[in-house]
Amino acid sequence: MINIAVLGYGTVGSGIVEVLNTNGDSINKRTGKEINIKYVLDLKTFPDDPINKKIIHDFNIILDDPSIKVIAEVMGGVEPAYTFVKEALLRGKSVCTSNKELVAKHGAELLKIAKDKNINFLFEASVGGGIPIIRPLNQSLTADEITEITGILNGTTNYILSKMSEEGLDFNTALKQAQDKGFAERNPEADIEGHDACRKIAILSSLAYGMQVDFEDIYTEGITKITDIDIKYAKVLNTRIKLFASSIKDGDEVHAMVAPFMINSDHPLYSVNEVFNGIFVKGNVIGDVMFYGSGAGKLPTASAVVADIIDAVKNLDRNIWTNWSSKKLELTDIKRIKNRFFIRMSNDAAIYDNKNVEEVIKNKFGVVELVSVDGIDGEIGFITSDILEAEISEMLKELPGVLNLIRVRF
Ligand code: HSE
Repeated sequence: MINIAVLGYGTVGSGIVEVLNTNGDSINKRTGKEINIKYVLDLKTFPDDPINKKIIHDFNIILDDPSIKVIAEVMGGVEPAYTFVKEALLRGKSVCTSNKELVAKHGAELLKIAKDKNINFLFEASVGGGIPIIRPLNQSLTADEITEITGILNGTTNYILSKMSEEGLDFNTALKQAQDKGFAERNPEADIEGHDACRKIAILSSLAYGMQVDFEDIYTEGITKITDIDIKYAKVLNTRIKLFASSIKDGDEVHAMVAPFMINSDHPLYSVNEVFNGIFVKGNVIGDVMFYGSGAGKLPTASAVVADIIDAVKNLDRNIWTNWSSKKLELTDIKRIKNRFFIRMSNDAAIYDNKNVEEVIKNKFGVVELVSVDGIDGEIGFITSDILEAEISEMLKELPGVLNLIRVRF
């Protein structure tokens, strides 16, 4: 029997207990050993839950118990998770975590400690919820040079955008639904401002390129500026708006960004809706690979953590090599990247010294594809050809009539 401890009895922590209770027999067979939860660390008590017998409030009990070989950390946030996880690894206990903030910030250091101690630091659940993506990048796609990872990596924002598009829900109602279903972060700003997706693409990029990609270096925009009017234009264009987190390698250069993109049905991520995540990976020999599944929620995320626990138990005295050095990867400045843009501009001539808006657009952007939507007056929509990010930000400063701008990938 192998004793484990779970840090945090929230959505994912209670999911781990449920998964081990539901599938205990098959899990034990696959592991070759019985997995026993000895402690659950939480600030709260749970008097109506059988787990209450195992609840403790002092992390040192876990640290000082030599029978605990594996710890699942599902508290979220950098502290105290970082201190606990580092201490545990230094004491020779493997750690499995769903904590993307922790992995994005301290992944390289914690992996190094695990390697030195010949144990494991595993984090499959930190990106894509229940979708296997860390292990494939680390073990299955190692014959390839990865040239692109583009993902819908945040279930909450994908849920919001899908509900706005399919059911005409407003932003706040859709966000409330995502919170009620347990998808959203405690502070939903991390979801809707793109920070959660940013940390996740930083983790995937660090693994794909084997170097430290700092999430602070990744240009990040969320979905808070997307309105029902943008959704109407997207529909007229037979497109959908998705929050993409992407990193692309071109020669020796890598650029990464998180931003809403308008995509059409030719894009492999077009049909990734609701809370689902999708991750598109391009390798130089394998070509295109797609990963799809539940990107958030109690049981999908717990499923990935438990799979890591099984791996950790099967490899108690053997480090599973992960190619993620602490050497920093300098990302290419996003200003040097070209994109096409969907832009909405007011057609009030007074804003443009009484010039016609179409003339202003032609002078600034050259040939564009104009888009109009029945019932939307007072503005005009259009799609540009490729423009440098540096140029578009300069142009926007000189164009007070711009109402919104969304990058286009079709
Ligand atoms: N808030 C996250 C999401 C949870 O919505 O995807 C899973 O990381």
